[in-house]
Amino acid sequence: MYQLSFSLQEFLSEYWQKKPVIIKGGFENFQDPVTPEELAGLTLESDVDSRFVSNLNNEWKAEHGPLSEELFDTLGETNWSIIVQAANHWHEGAAELFKPFKQMPNWLFDDIMISYSVPDGGVGPHIDQYDVFIIQGQGKRHWRVGDIGEYEEEHRHGALKQITGFDPIIDQILEPGDILYIPPGFPHDGYALEPSMSYSAGFRSPKEQELVSNFADFIIENEKSDVHYHNPDLQAQTHGAEITTQSFEDLKAMMLNAMSDEQSLKQFMGEYLSNSRHHLNILPDSEKWTTEELLGYLQSGQALIKVAGVRAFYHETEACEDNMTLYVDGESYVFPLAVKNDVIALCETSEFTLLDIENLLQDPHSVSNLLQFVNIGYWFVESEEDEE
Ligand code: SIN
Ligand code: CO
Repeated sequence: MYQLSFSLQEFLSEYWQKKPVIIKGGFENFQDPVTPEELAGLTLESDVDSRFVSNLNNEWKAEHGPLSEELFDTLGETNWSIIVQAANHWHEGAAELFKPFKQMPNWLFDDIMISYSVPDGGVGPHIDQYDVFIIQGQGKRHWRVGDIGEYEEEHRHGALKQITGFDPIIDQILEPGDILYIPPGFPHDGYALEPSMSYSAGFRSPKEQELVSNFADFIIENEKSDVHYHNPDLQAQTHGAEITTQSFEDLKAMMLNAMSDEQSLKQFMGEYLSNSRHHLNILPDSEKWTTEELLGYLQSGQALIKVAGVRAFYHETEACEDNMTLYVDGESYVFPLAVKNDVIALCETSEFTLLDIENLLQDPHSVSNLLQFVNIGYWFVESEEDEE
C-alpha cells in the first residue's frame, strides 16, 4: 500500500500549478510495483502505448511500440529508455500508484507512465502540458528543471519534442521514494545515473478550446440547439452590409443560450471527462450474462472487479432531485438518488461484492445498468482474471 509522507492539501496550496518541487522521501520505503522485465514485456504488446528512445553519442533515436524482442537483443548498457503510457491500465501494481492521489479530483487524472532507463538514458530537455508527479523507483536519476517561459524547440528527432536547453532552478538527484512535481510549462530533463525506474502520475487539465469544440460535437450528436435564427420583426437597413448591434446581440444570445443549458452541460462534462484517453484492457467477446446470472454470481459472495483505468464519475449536484447520473467511460447511466452510496462505491472501489451494493440490487433499473457494465466488460468476474 502506497502512502504519501506529506499532506496533499498543503502540497496543493503551496505548489500545485505554481512551482516545481522535489519532495525527498515522498514515499517511505518505496517498493517498485513493476520490474524492468515486466515493463519490457508490456512494450511488446500491440494494445499498449509505448516508446523506445536512445541517445548514444548524442544521436537521438525514437521508436513507437510495439517494440520487438530483436530490438532488446541489440541494446547496450547505456543511453536508452523504454516508456509505457497508461501502465496502470495493464498492470495491477502500476494501478496501485494512483491510490495515494485519489483525494485529487479523479477527472483530472490521466495515467501512470512508467519509464526504465539505463545510465545516461533519458528523453532530453522538453516541456509537458501536464502536471506530473515523477516518483523515483529503483536506481538514481539526475533531474534538472527550469523556470516557466519561452524556449526554442530543437528537432533532433521527429518523434521527440525537445527544446534547446534551459537554466535549472532545480538540479538534484532523485533516489527511491523521492517525488519530483512539475507543473505544465516548466522545462525538464532527467538522466539515469543507474538502471532506473520512474513512475509519472500525470494530471491533465482540459483546454478551454477543447471543451468548447467537444461541447459543439455533443450538441450536434444529441440534436440539441437545432434551431435557426428567427426574427419576424426584421427591419429594412440603410446599409445592408451592416451587421447591426441588435443582430449581433441576438446571435450572441443564441450561442450563449446553447452554452448555458445546465442539464446539457452537466451531461456533456460527465460524458467527456469520463472518456478514457487510453485503451482499456477489456476482454473482447466475453459471454453476455442475464440478470439472473449476474444476481446468482453476486449472491454466491464473489466479487466483480473493475477494469483498471475505467473512469466513473458523478456530479455533486443534479438538476433532477430523484435521480443521479453515473458517467462511465463516456456514457450516462441514470440511478435513483436513493442508491447514491452504492454508486459511489462503484466509483471508488476497485472491486465490489453484494454487501457493497445491497440497496442498488433492490432496484431493477439499477440492476440493468449493472448488467450493462458487466456485459460491456467494465467489471469482470474473479475467475476470468485467474485464467489470464
Ligand atoms: C521519463 O520518465 O523518461 C520522462 C518523464 C518526463 O520527463 O516527462
Ligand atoms: Co516530461
